[in-house]
Amino acid sequence: MAPAIELVGVDKRFGAVHANRNIDLVVEAGSIHGIVGENGAGKSTLMSILYGFYEADAGEIRIDGASRRIRSSRDAIAAGIGMVHQHFMLVEPLSVLDNVMLGAEGGALLAQGAAATRARLAELGRAYGLAIDPDATVGDLPVGLQQRVEILKALVRGARILILDEPTAVLTPAEADQLFEMLRALRAEGKTVILITHKLREIMAVTDRVSVMRRGEMVAHFDTARTSAQELASAMVGRPVLLKVDKTPAAPGEIALAAEGLVARDRSGVARVDHVSLSLRVGEIVGVAGVSGNGQSELLLALAGIAHPQEGRITLGGRDVTRLSPAALRKLGLAHVPEDRHHMGLVLPFEENESALLGYQDDPAYGSGPLLDRDAVRADARVKIRAYDVQPPDCLLKTANFSGGNQQKIVLAREMERDPNVLIVGQPTRGVDIGAIEFIHKRLIAMRDAGAAILLVSVELDEIMALSDRILVMCGGRITGERRAADTNAQELGLLMAGVTEKAA
Ligand SMILES: Nc1ncnc2c1ncn2[C@@H]1O[C@H](COP(=O)(O)OP(=O)(O)OP(=O)(O)O)[C@@H](O)[C@H]1O
Ligand SMILES: [Mg+2]
Repeated sequence: MAPAIELVGVDKRFGAVHANRNIDLVVEAGSIHGIVGENGAGKSTLMSILYGFYEADAGEIRIDGASRRIRSSRDAIAAGIGMVHQHFMLVEPLSVLDNVMLGAEGGALLAQGAAATRARLAELGRAYGLAIDPDATVGDLPVGLQQRVEILKALVRGARILILDEPTAVLTPAEADQLFEMLRALRAEGKTVILITHKLREIMAVTDRVSVMRRGEMVAHFDTARTSAQELASAMVGRPVLLKVDKTPAAPGEIALAAEGLVARDRSGVARVDHVSLSLRVGEIVGVAGVSGNGQSELLLALAGIAHPQEGRITLGGRDVTRLSPAALRKLGLAHVPEDRHHMGLVLPFEENESALLGYQDDPAYGSGPLLDRDAVRADARVKIRAYDVQPPDCLLKTANFSGGNQQKIVLAREMERDPNVLIVGQPTRGVDIGAIEFIHKRLIAMRDAGAAILLVSVELDEIMALSDRILVMCGGRITGERRAADTNAQELGLLMAGVTEKAA
């Protein structure tokens, strides 16, 4: 049988950036094929070429053995290719059904009509465990379900080859397991899946083969059964990588940040944060574990001054800051790395050096009076680019043109490099490659050791356990448990995350 996909000598440049160099790749039909590589290695670019989003400068694409020109996503869909992008491409104010039908190339779905599409959605939902309410508004759905809409959209269009670009970056471990079950079901039906992920555990668990990219090149291919996470990590980064965190026990000092009885309600009056009290001390990392959607995001927003709580009190260094703005909190030494970098961390049309400054425009280091000292801003951006190995190292490039992981590094560098007294950080390594994770983890530990108080919210239980000195578990808006990291394990935390309370356990 001909391979589902064969790429021969695919090449693509963006100005000075050589994003894909002479790429050869074979993906067998009916297999799950992983692609790994550092941030900016060229993974998304290569898949965007396959999906007709970009056209390659050179090279050939063969689908099921036949050479195809793919000049638009319409061509790709006609060739049986579907793609779920790293950043979703849904229209948030519209319903699930409208999103699925929207832009259905050739009007095929429109011709069949809404009723037929509705029926097809229900059928796919049953076949692959992808049930969804077709009338729900996409913008109101949690990310896990928005992703489901993207997958359904591809399947409704008849995709036989499904490309998923970092699908689990936004999912909880349980949601990721569900997704993998679904990918296995697709494979069992002879469909082909390409999976891009930074999580080597996932590559090892679900793929048949894996290809490694580095700096625009395809550098190695492995049978998953014959490789290891460590070998893949070395192939990706070009050196051995520490997959574990090295740290000494914390020496916590006085309370830096405290919350008492916080209540944050959503628009319909539901308490997303339900009487939460916590304290964070100088020189410690406190992790907040939980299945996403259990109030962690709202807690972060309240503590960062972005959405004030309806009840309760927040103190910073003993001072009541409950009603202060994010800007005022920043001046008091509280930095915040938002969970969702696209909505809150960055302005995509801005140049990198402008995004690297967001929220700190008033800093006297960038000039006095109404005008910014552009040279100082750029010099500062370059220093951070070097420190965090942002690729490409160009502070004049538009933020949107950096790869996903490099965008995350821009936000992290901005917030962490100011040596804040208190850092609240949401999903710090979401979408970030393993080399950069190693760096970010070391940096967080170094900040802790230098006396910072760090509140870490992450859906990666491994990350919470590796970095935290103390762990709070959130479920249904409440803190359902507190453990010293040294005294607990994933099973116990998992039970608390699922709402099995201390007494019941
Ligand atoms: N539209 C564009 N204009 C200019 N440069 C771009 C554009 N798209 C991508 N690049 C550059 O091409 C390179 C490869 O980016 P790509 O998004 O393919 O990386 P990636 O492997 O998907 O990384 P990540 O893991 O961070 O998502 C990067 O240096 C990126 O900055
Ligand atoms: Mg990418």
